[in-house]
Amino acid sequence: MSKIIAIAMQKGGVGKTTTTINLAAALGELGYRVLAIDLDPQGNLTQHAGFDPDQVTPTVYDVLKTEVEGFESDATGSIYETDEAFHLMPSQPELSLIELSLMNTLSREQVLATLLKSISKEYDYILIDCNPSLGLLVINALTAADSVIIPIQTEYLAARGALMILSTIETVRRKKLNAGLSIEGILLTMADPRTTLTRDILEAINQQYGADVRIFEPVVRRSVRFAESAVAGQSILAYDSKGQGAEAYRQVAKVIAGGK
Ligand SMILES: Nc1ncnc2c1ncn2[C@@H]1O[C@H](COP(=O)(O)OP(=O)(O)O)[C@@H](O)[C@H]1O
Ligand SMILES: [Mg+2]
Repeated sequence: MSKIIAIAMQKGGVGKTTTTINLAAALGELGYRVLAIDLDPQGNLTQHAGFDPDQVTPTVYDVLKTEVEGFESDATGSIYETDEAFHLMPSQPELSLIELSLMNTLSREQVLATLLKSISKEYDYILIDCNPSLGLLVINALTAADSVIIPIQTEYLAARGALMILSTIETVRRKKLNAGLSIEGILLTMADPRTTLTRDILEAINQQYGADVRIFEPVVRRSVRFAESAVAGQSILAYDSKGQGAEAYRQVAKVIAGGK
């Protein structure tokens, strides 16, 4: 059985997509069978993995649309091999239309969970890159997932955002959409451990959440290599294999795999 992990945070630009592709590559490097799903209409993960969101078809949009229309979908048809050790289910801009049609769908929160059942045997890990909201696509991801990774940008007031995603996770559990949903951990991204600000935030987040939620170690440091790797269409593991960023994500992957 696969472990499904949603990478979710309602704020944009905190490192969700970066975390998804690099954990996918790192878990793949460990020998696991990994699928990364781009559940963001912006298609950043799709692009980062070397595909064009305006060209690639079929995508997760087609699979969800088929399910919403009441037919059984063929998820495998929307899965692509990448140049690295993980598979990709890409996104396209039309995915933004699905949220509206989901509204009028029976069991609208469970559509993604249902379609992942048919492919979960094929993978050890399925990582879902969420869009920056708490809308129905994200609720679908949280309903389908076994656990959630919450990336937090190491900046002033970042902790406030964590409260909102944590209370959404609590709602998903309480409403019995997914009573067993667990929190894999909070991952601090774009950190600069040399500054007192980063140290203060680390301490604040540890104090506020550390008792209930794992705060991943190491933190992911700020590095221009990440943006460069996105432009190159590669994970940081392929782009700068020996760098600090690649090493950080490898270690986080080991923590996750250790807990499987
Ligand atoms: N550790 C990091 N250091 C520096 N830049 C980063 C880091 N992680 C991500 N980025 C960059 O920050 C931007 C936002 O990251 P992204 O993963 O797309 O966030 P999200 O998916 O949450 O919107 C991207 O340009 C990405 O390349
Ligand atoms: Mg993103």
